[in-house]
Amino acid sequence: MPLVNTKEMFAKAYAGGYAIGAFNINDMEILQGIVDACQQLRSPVILQVSGSARKYARHAYLVNLVKAAEAETGLPIALHLDHGADFALCKECIDGGFTSVMIDGSSLPYEQNVAETARVVEYAHARGVTVEGELGQLAGVEDEVSVDADRAHYTDPSQVQDFVGRTGVDSLAIAIGTSHGAYKFKPGQKPQLRFDILQEVMDRLPNYPIVLHGASSVLPQYVEIVNRNGGRMADAIGIPEEMLRKAASMAVCKINVDSDLRLAMTAGIRKHFAEHPEHFDPRQYLGEARGFITDVVRGKILNVLGSADKI
Ligand code: G3H
Ligand code: 13P
Ligand code: ZN
Repeated sequence: MPLVNTKEMFAKAYAGGYAIGAFNINDMEILQGIVDACQQLRSPVILQVSGSARKYARHAYLVNLVKAAEAETGLPIALHLDHGADFALCKECIDGGFTSVMIDGSSLPYEQNVAETARVVEYAHARGVTVEGELGQLAGVEDEVSVDADRAHYTDPSQVQDFVGRTGVDSLAIAIGTSHGAYKFKPGQKPQLRFDILQEVMDRLPNYPIVLHGASSVLPQYVEIVNRNGGRMADAIGIPEEMLRKAASMAVCKINVDSDLRLAMTAGIRKHFAEHPEHFDPRQYLGEARGFITDVVRGKILNVLGSADKI
């Protein structure tokens, strides 16, 4: 099958009480590591590309790698733009083969977010591409996403019907206490998600797919491998898996994971060099790192998403 948009994936996920993993890709090994796990467990998947990943790896390389993955595996795969900054970037990706885009207007004043999102939806829907919008702001720092904890704020459920109704957006990312990166909570702080906000959003938008960004669990065993092999990631803390499972059983149909893949890849490479300091063939250490990515994605599918055997 060709690359798909997220419409049918989300309808099935909502009805089945599971979520689709949306994994960030930056190169071939990350992509293959993800897809290998999805093939083993017969799971649909969203492969997402941030603006800075697109700058790093270049549009044509990423699109064609994803097309190769689809041709080899036959899996339902959506190619999604993560955190599209504006209409121009969304348009480039839609014109260039993406099947889904996020327009991230969450930092704009509400009316501007509505206008920019509606503009992207109109362009995308005319071309069979689905659109994710965002209301509320997550804390955290990535290349092109940087929000101080003080400026982050939860989604206001009283806005969601108006936003979805006026924009026609296909899914909505909301802020309920997750954040981007590997340092989501302070040591001693109890991880908490606002399930009351998620429930209120569900009540106001029946059968509507919700998206969770900043949803890496930052598994301690991988942090430990990094730190044992020369790394320094003190106090890296993520979202407990049971909270994500609960969200997936509710209206959350898309769970975004990037930091856990970065952590797995780094753990694999650091471990490899610690054990084989004489190696210098990239296939040796990147091959081991790719296997680490597969293990992490298998764990997500089985322990968090519930998307195994859903194709
Ligand atoms: O949410 C942001 C993603 O983790 C992408 O991060 O902009 O550093 O590629 P990036
Ligand atoms: P993490 O940093 O928790 O992996 O979140 C990734 C994300 O939200 C990508 O959009
Ligand atoms: Zn995100």
